[in-house]
Amino acid sequence: MKPSVYVTRRIPREALEFLHSHCQVRIWDSDDPVPRATLLEEVARAEGLFCLLTERVDAELLDRAPRLRVVANMAVGYDNVDVRACTARGVMVTNTPGVLTETTADLAFALILAAARRLVEAARFLAAGQWKAWGPMLLTGQDVYGSTLGLVGFGRIGQAVARRARGFDMRILYYDTRRYPEAEQTLGATWLPLDDLLRQADVVSIHAPLTPETHHLIGERELRLMKPTAVLVNTARGPLVDEQALYRALREGWIWAAGLDVFEKEPIGPDHPLLTLPNVVAVPHIGSASIATRTRMATLAAENLVAALRGEVPPNLVNREVIAAS
Ligand code: NAP
Ligand code: GLV
Repeated sequence: MKPSVYVTRRIPREALEFLHSHCQVRIWDSDDPVPRATLLEEVARAEGLFCLLTERVDAELLDRAPRLRVVANMAVGYDNVDVRACTARGVMVTNTPGVLTETTADLAFALILAAARRLVEAARFLAAGQWKAWGPMLLTGQDVYGSTLGLVGFGRIGQAVARRARGFDMRILYYDTRRYPEAEQTLGATWLPLDDLLRQADVVSIHAPLTPETHHLIGERELRLMKPTAVLVNTARGPLVDEQALYRALREGWIWAAGLDVFEKEPIGPDHPLLTLPNVVAVPHIGSASIATRTRMATLAAENLVAALRGEVPPNLVNREVIAAS
């Protein structure tokens, strides 16, 4: 008999067909998130869970899922999953690294350019009929070309942003808990302590995972270290930045502008304070949102799930210790 899996959202056809060919599939067939109560009911019979970063996979859910063997998260970040609780119950956790690296780096670079050069503010100005004439200092921003980029987190996506930055003749600094000697060579990147990076960078772009250590990594103290002309971009996870401090930094001119794809509590609505500021470019967590990349992510998550249910080691197993324990 095919193993039974639950899929928490409507997903690309290729991935769903693959799942159907290997599993008995139940699905929350909607573009809206599955209600928590429904999810808790559905996991009771599931051996595999295909979920998104919008679903909290915690001890409460796992206690309702006695047959569960694998949680396949359709995202590279897995801060929504209590990995330790999964491991303790012998449940494998997988993610989707690599396939979204370049797409997410593209979005980070788009936010760097848009925030530094005031693109959204300028487009709104034009659409509102405020453009009367070319003016010497009208809507002037900060140069990206030739400036200094500070990357916080220098893994797959951080390095992909650095590759783009080389085309803009940027000086590349990075802060990470580990050193990448080869990438330092090939990308001409220099490791610095976080405070020094924040003091020197014209653009700070965040690419570290959300963990207890990175929660509010960028708070008031860190924002005050940055240049008043600096741009902050966050395409990692919202809680890495203290949003209240960021609001004050942007309103009071401690920094120049911010480009944000992620927020402390998602989704945000139109009344969010950051959206009232002209020097904020904000988009709704679309870092990996190209058709091709989302399709690859879904397919990879499905492959991880099926491999685990076949008793194989899935290609993107997060908690290897679960194998040693079994
Ligand atoms: P990655 O390759 O694992 O890179 C993350 C880097 O950050 C690693 O070098 C990691 O070191 C380092 N790091 C860990 N803790 C740190 C700390 N306290 N301070 C500084 N650096 C630290 O991951 P990735 O594929 O580049 O993805 C990065 C993150 O981006 C994901 O975790 C996810 O949350 C986010 N993301 C968002 C979107 C979006 O749609 N906006 C899309 C994709 C990814 P270790 O390897 O030693 O831990
Ligand atoms: C998206 O945010 C991801 O982590 O893949």
